[in-house]
Amino acid sequence: MSRILLLGSGGREHALAWKISQSDKCEKLYIAPGNAGTAEVGENVNIKADDFESIKIFVLRNRVQMVVVGPEDPLVKGIYDYFKNDAELRNIPVIGPSKAGAVLEGSKDFAKGFMQRHGIPTAAYRTFTGETLEEGKAFLRTLQPPYVLKADGLCAGKGVLILPTLEEAEKELGEMLGGMFGGASSRVVIEEFLDGIECSVFVLTDGKTYKILPEAKDYKRIGEGDTGLNTGGMGSVSPVPFADKEWMTKVEDRIIRPTVEGLKAEGIDYKGFIFFGLINVGGDPKVIEYNVRMGDPETETVMLRLKSDLVDLFEGVATGTLAEKKVEFDERAAVCIMLVSGGYPGSYEKGFEITGVEDVWGSIVFHAGTAKKDGQLVTSGGRVIAVSSYGKDKEEALEKSFANAKLITFQGKNFRRDIGADL
Ligand code: AMP
Ligand code: GLY
Repeated sequence: MSRILLLGSGGREHALAWKISQSDKCEKLYIAPGNAGTAEVGENVNIKADDFESIKIFVLRNRVQMVVVGPEDPLVKGIYDYFKNDAELRNIPVIGPSKAGAVLEGSKDFAKGFMQRHGIPTAAYRTFTGETLEEGKAFLRTLQPPYVLKADGLCAGKGVLILPTLEEAEKELGEMLGGMFGGASSRVVIEEFLDGIECSVFVLTDGKTYKILPEAKDYKRIGEGDTGLNTGGMGSVSPVPFADKEWMTKVEDRIIRPTVEGLKAEGIDYKGFIFFGLINVGGDPKVIEYNVRMGDPETETVMLRLKSDLVDLFEGVATGTLAEKKVEFDERAAVCIMLVSGGYPGSYEKGFEITGVEDVWGSIVFHAGTAKKDGQLVTSGGRVIAVSSYGKDKEEALEKSFANAKLITFQGKNFRRDIGADL
């Protein structure tokens, strides 16, 4: 029996909290800071996910026995090491990689170098700084359009630019290296454009072995038909039809195993989720990016399809006994439709009353950006609510999610009606 603290406040964290709270092994679940949805399956604690000192005090006072980290920020800032190096916290497991492991997401240049060292398929690339701007421009001239520029550091999902012309690519390279994303773009990775369909694959690792979780596809653009600006994610679908046994065997042999072995070989302490952002290029999987956490909104479908006890798997991660655990998938399909604020991903207003959540039937509502104000549920972010459903196939699941998406109302509500239509 565990007393668990989950860090984060989005739809991903509500889905994780929903799954954790179903476990017989979970005695008490706290979420810091959480949202109006996580408060329904656990107890919210008003502490920011990267306020390590307040987390320490809370963990000790409340006899927390395991910390699960939702977002990348606390991981990149070193929460795992903070616990490891503290005499009072050392024996409390943190589910998430060490700071050295979190660099897989925190630095695109490190991730590319890691893949190169371990022969993991990815787009050809080179990295440039302000001092090598002219070489960067010369490198761009050797590539075919469109051009892919990536800020090295974390940019809240905004650090990747895909540009149709050489002129624009050269201009944006100059601006990125000139401080467009502050220090995060003081180094820029330029890489070959890969054409294909994306798929998110997730594993849990205890640093020795790994377990593959259900895969999902997310829909990043705001507009139907994958048009318009990038968002945090407008919906997700699991399973992904092209991720069949044959394709997943390639993923495991060429990408997952070499990654876990590579971490081990480089002496990187990694006990947590690895998120492989993959692209299917002519039947062959290539890595677009690593993340060191679960995806959002993928978690809002992956947790539906994970039959096994998540806390039991976390215990395997913490104690290095993951090899003994079994991961079982639900055979049904799962989908998630994200309801977002009007104007998102540009500027939008918050604080609008949300109604109809209690009328939802046959779907699972995960809160992303919601809050309670004088007892009333209100919007508090760009992505507001994820409506997740099971179905015998994705069509049946989508039908339920769309029907329930209509029942939930708030001023400016927007969602994509074409989630899953391309698969
Ligand atoms: P990332 O933050 O690395 O996931 O990049 C954001 C999005 O940009 C990805 O989900 C892809 O849709 C796209 N992208 C990134 N790198 C490439 C690439 N080399 N070729 C094509 N599209 C890419
Ligand atoms: N859905 C993509 C991400 O979580 O980064």
